[in-house]
Amino acid sequence: MNAMLNSQPADAAPIAINGQRLWDSLMEMAKIGATPKGGVCRLALTDLDRQGRDLFVQWAREAGCSISVDQMGNVFARRAGKDDSLAPVVTGSHADSQPTGGKFDGIYGVLGGLEVIRSLNDHGIETERPIEVVIWTNEEGSRFAPAMVASGVFAGVFTLEYGLSRADVDGKTMGEELRRIGYAGDVPMGKPIHAAFELHIEQGPILEAEDVTIGVVTAAQGQRWYEVIFTGQESHAGPTPMPRRRDALLGAARVIELVNRIGHAHAPLACATVGMLQVHPNSRNVIPGQVFFTIDIRHPEDAVLAKMDAELREGIAKIAADTKLETTKLEQIFYYAPVPFDTACVDSVRAAAQRFGYSHRDIVSGAGHDACYLAGVAPTAMVFVPCVGGISHNEIEDATPEWIEAGANVLLHAMLGRSSR
Ligand code: GLV
Ligand code: MN
Ligand code: MN
Repeated sequence: MNAMLNSQPADAAPIAINGQRLWDSLMEMAKIGATPKGGVCRLALTDLDRQGRDLFVQWAREAGCSISVDQMGNVFARRAGKDDSLAPVVTGSHADSQPTGGKFDGIYGVLGGLEVIRSLNDHGIETERPIEVVIWTNEEGSRFAPAMVASGVFAGVFTLEYGLSRADVDGKTMGEELRRIGYAGDVPMGKPIHAAFELHIEQGPILEAEDVTIGVVTAAQGQRWYEVIFTGQESHAGPTPMPRRRDALLGAARVIELVNRIGHAHAPLACATVGMLQVHPNSRNVIPGQVFFTIDIRHPEDAVLAKMDAELREGIAKIAADTKLETTKLEQIFYYAPVPFDTACVDSVRAAAQRFGYSHRDIVSGAGHDACYLAGVAPTAMVFVPCVGGISHNEIEDATPEWIEAGANVLLHAMLGRSSR
């Protein structure tokens, strides 16, 4: 550990971040893409995403960081280390949001990292290793599927060509949109990382319900995402008798039921969701001829996730046959196995929580995070804080200033714990 910190007596109050400054930065950032219900809509690679990135870059430069942008538009703000040739300790998260997103999902991890750097500056602490704060492009997977695609390219899970060619519903690709907003960088993908930490709200109800301030994230559950197209036949809603119909939406409705049943069948840990549906031609007096929809299934055990996958495929085949539909597409577009985080990094998070006397518990992440891909290339762990009512991916997403401050304090000390040679 750093010389100054070592010179602190063991029982001295730990060096702390500035909670008010972090909160103010979060509220300032939340003005970019602010929604009437108090949330944020800052979809990946839109003009609003660019404004958010620009503000972060400005703040990071003011804090003395150098900025670099890689070929997937990931933004790295670097605070030099005493030995700047050493691999950095990295933190960060994402700045994009869901269409009806909140003020904390993602951006808390980015601005929490910036607050770590600002606090190191305040306290005159030089770390042996460089510290980097990253905005990972398009974590949400909302505008461009899949999620976490740019950290995935960084970690070698996807090729650069794959990442840049992901397209939104209008056919605009990530490559085009990165160029348009001025964040198509030229730094090659991937580099050595000494250790990585991601700070995030829990996005679920456990910590708040148990009145615990810090989630020490030991693992993240696995996920599979699918895209499905059912094709039937468009025909007139009036003259077409019920037995003759090939209603693609009826098939999709039965799959929605099936997905929900599979989730319940593997309770309490399984999750299963149909979140997106596009009906063609979407006219009230036309029997739907084609439906596109998505499926998201998750479980902390890979074997159970595989069983859910088998049940899903079998169920979809039966529904298609029963409803006389063609399964034009059934493609798993995204999969990662449950991710165990690095024991030493997890220990650093736990030790930091203990140092501040924060209540804490081990927890498994229900959501996907860029840390899940980084874990494949560097020792990685995450810090969770509660969110009000466990609600996220919702404009009412909220957290208290006390939780926000506590999480960043834990991040600071977890990073310092790994920032020596
Ligand atoms: C990312 O937000 C996810 O879907 O878990
Ligand atoms: Mn997130
Ligand atoms: Mn999210």
